[in-house]
Amino acid sequence: MKMLPLINLVALKNYLLLLTITFIAASCSNDSSIIPENQLVLNLPEKPFDYIMDNDQAVLGRVLFYDKQLSINNGVSCASCHKQALAFADNKQFSPGFDNRPTERNSMPIQNLLGSDIGFGFRQDMSGVSLAGLFWDGRGINHSEALLLPVINHVEMGIPNIDYLTEKVSSIDYYDELFAKAFPGQQIDGFTISSSLFSFTHSITSFNTKLDKSLRGDVELSPNEKLGQALFFTKYECNSCHQVQDPQGYLFAGGFANIGLESNYADSGLEGISDRSFDNGKFKIPSLRNVALTAPYMHDGRFASLQEVILHYKSEVVDHPNLDHRLKGSDGVPLRPEITESEVQLIVDFLGTLTDHSLIADERFSNPFVVE
Ligand code: HEC
Ligand code: HEC
Repeated sequence: MKMLPLINLVALKNYLLLLTITFIAASCSNDSSIIPENQLVLNLPEKPFDYIMDNDQAVLGRVLFYDKQLSINNGVSCASCHKQALAFADNKQFSPGFDNRPTERNSMPIQNLLGSDIGFGFRQDMSGVSLAGLFWDGRGINHSEALLLPVINHVEMGIPNIDYLTEKVSSIDYYDELFAKAFPGQQIDGFTISSSLFSFTHSITSFNTKLDKSLRGDVELSPNEKLGQALFFTKYECNSCHQVQDPQGYLFAGGFANIGLESNYADSGLEGISDRSFDNGKFKIPSLRNVALTAPYMHDGRFASLQEVILHYKSEVVDHPNLDHRLKGSDGVPLRPEITESEVQLIVDFLGTLTDHSLIADERFSNPFVVE
């Protein structure tokens, strides 16, 4: 990735705008691919990353992200399963890919990826603790492979291989200029396609939830939200796993846990990647940022509402050899705490403070194509 000196940013943006206008003029003949000038300009992500995405690559990545022509039958784009209004997750248990073939897991939100994939994929720290990369099972060996997986995965977008994709993208008029700008002198290939998707998806940051603002001292949570916060942090220790104060959601937590959804998991989770039986049924501890927008829940979308999720922790945690120690007593029996009905509602109220309304309204991340 290229680092851009700050001083050039304004000039860069103006240049981009100019280019965009030329580009729109050139593509007006094809209705389905008109990209309005004011939407194609993608600003740079803001702090806290002391780090600047390549703006041209992110602009290109945004177009690729929303382009259905990246699928075999021009029916599915990344955004079909990662919808901005839903924090880039989907509201289906399993999302339909090309030909309506369903995914095997529930779609995940895309937000604050920078940092959550440092190290690129499942790995262990010095004490052997498993740290999560991308996806429910933490796979995602490196960013370019991870981001091309859905495209070449037959269920999701149906493209047979990178060469086919390269050829397809190369044949679409509007990409010539976008690639020339983002990768001067380089070819359209798997690397440049995935690097742009990387720049775009990693520029999707969320730091403006009500909880963020309250932690910064800018707003106060309502009395009920505060009660829910105390239940979440202290009484039921949800935060021992879900670290909602952290943008990625698991700064100091291990990254994976088995929460007793099944005594016999249909989807083996982390074990499928690590090949160790003590990882059976472990899934990435999801960030709960924007969780009110991302129903249904869990890796298999089994719960339709947050209430159902909390009822799981209250009474449905089943015994499993790998059940996380935080969910069982010293006798090894699942804890199943007596969460009252009103407490369930207070926790749901608190989870509502994790919604970032600016993320879902941010034009930089919106569909650059005119909606037909
Ligand atoms: C047909 C639906 C579908 C399409 C199309 C799709 N995804 Fe996904 N995406 C998913 C599902 C399902 C998961 C979780 C998969 C898993 O854990 O095995 C996921 C997970 C991800 C993740 C991991 C997020 C995290 O926090 O770990 C990223 C990043 C991602 N997708 C990016 C993309 C990009 C980029 C595209 C387009 C090239 C794309 N997706 C297309 C359904 C889809
Ligand atoms: C031992 C660690 C751990 C604890 C403690 C824990 N969770 Fe979870 N939570 C997880 C994991 C792992 C998942 C994903 C499991 C899966 O999909 O198989 C999850 C999933 C969720 C989800 C669904 C998120 C999504 O995007 O699908 C919600 C909501 C949630 N937990 C809330 C809570 C609440 C509320 C508490 C406290 C009562 C709590 N969790 C306690 C580890 C934990």
